[in-house]
Amino acid sequence: VLRSVIRGVGAHLPKRIVTNDDLAKIVDTSDSWIQERSGIVCRHIADENELTSDLGAAAAKQALVRAGIDPVDIDLIVCATATPDRTFPATAVRIQSMLGVTKGAAFDVQAVCSGFVYAMTVADNFLKLGQSKRALVIGAETFSRILDWSDRSTCVLFGDGAGAVVLEAQPQHGTNDDRGILSTRIRSDGRFEDLLYVDGGPGSTKTVGHLRMNGREVFRHAVQKISGVIEETLVETGYAADEIDLYIPHQANKRILDGIAKKLGVAPEKIVITLDKHGNTSAASIPLALNDAFEAHRVKEGSLVLMEAMGGGFTWGAVLARW
Ligand code: ACO
Repeated sequence: VLRSVIRGVGAHLPKRIVTNDDLAKIVDTSDSWIQERSGIVCRHIADENELTSDLGAAAAKQALVRAGIDPVDIDLIVCATATPDRTFPATAVRIQSMLGVTKGAAFDVQAVCSGFVYAMTVADNFLKLGQSKRALVIGAETFSRILDWSDRSTCVLFGDGAGAVVLEAQPQHGTNDDRGILSTRIRSDGRFEDLLYVDGGPGSTKTVGHLRMNGREVFRHAVQKISGVIEETLVETGYAADEIDLYIPHQANKRILDGIAKKLGVAPEKIVITLDKHGNTSAASIPLALNDAFEAHRVKEGSLVLMEAMGGGFTWGAVLARW
């Protein structure tokens, strides 16, 4: 039996930090409103010449160094992004070329904020089937490019960044060996498209477009759908909520995370929070948070880690892994 073992994690953030006070200069908002309603204090914003692929490649390089794996030994690259450099080719293929990799396959996965959970699920299946040996799973976004900077209800919530993990297919050593990805679960329901979408694209305005969101409705669905998928994961794997060492949620809103914690009875100190300093970085938020937990020695060998997300579509899902 093959398992997808996490060998390394890495991240990259643009240098430029934009505070809530900075935003108050361009839209009618305040530091206290943003902090109180979302928990966000600041976010990183990419420079004009800094593309999603640049952020993704930098995160991937760090993950590879930490894994001790040479880029040429990677035979699968899955990049989760809703903000590709170009409509095509896939950002993953551009990253593949930046890493000097010419074999295997690279492609993007588009599930917006759930993208990383989707990409981990896809890569895990390739590895478990023996179709690939070593995968780079990347979440990389430059949401600053699809924000309507005159809409205070959305532009204050998002940021740019990237994170990556290296997965390796390893044989399971006996039934006691439960390292690696233990469970993946992805869901979608297109009835909710109008609550969170980008109003551009080749099939509509033919421009890149802007993010549009009914925040209150998204909020309501998020707590419900994410709690549901976590509960299903726990039932499937037989773990109790308090046996999870660390929760690595998609970072959309502190109040959503508090709501989920309360519903499932999770201790707040088990939840990794980075949205205060990163904002919502869509598909990048989970690997960025995982990287944060790794650097703070909060995740170590044997840690049971649960990642979860919901995003536009709606899409949602969860991944349970033993580090
Ligand atoms: N500054 C000041 N006032 C604001 C701002 C702002 N930046 N934005 C909105 N307001 C005003 C509104 O106009 C409204 O005023 P009104 O009462 O006079 O109409 C008031 O604040 C309250 O607005 P609500 O939308 O009801 O505020 P709410 O408490 O719901 O918070 C928020 C808004 C933060 C967007 C919240 O609903 C939320 O986080 N929702 C989830 C969004 C989310 O997580 N999206 C991403 C998930 S999926 C993904 O990551 C792509």
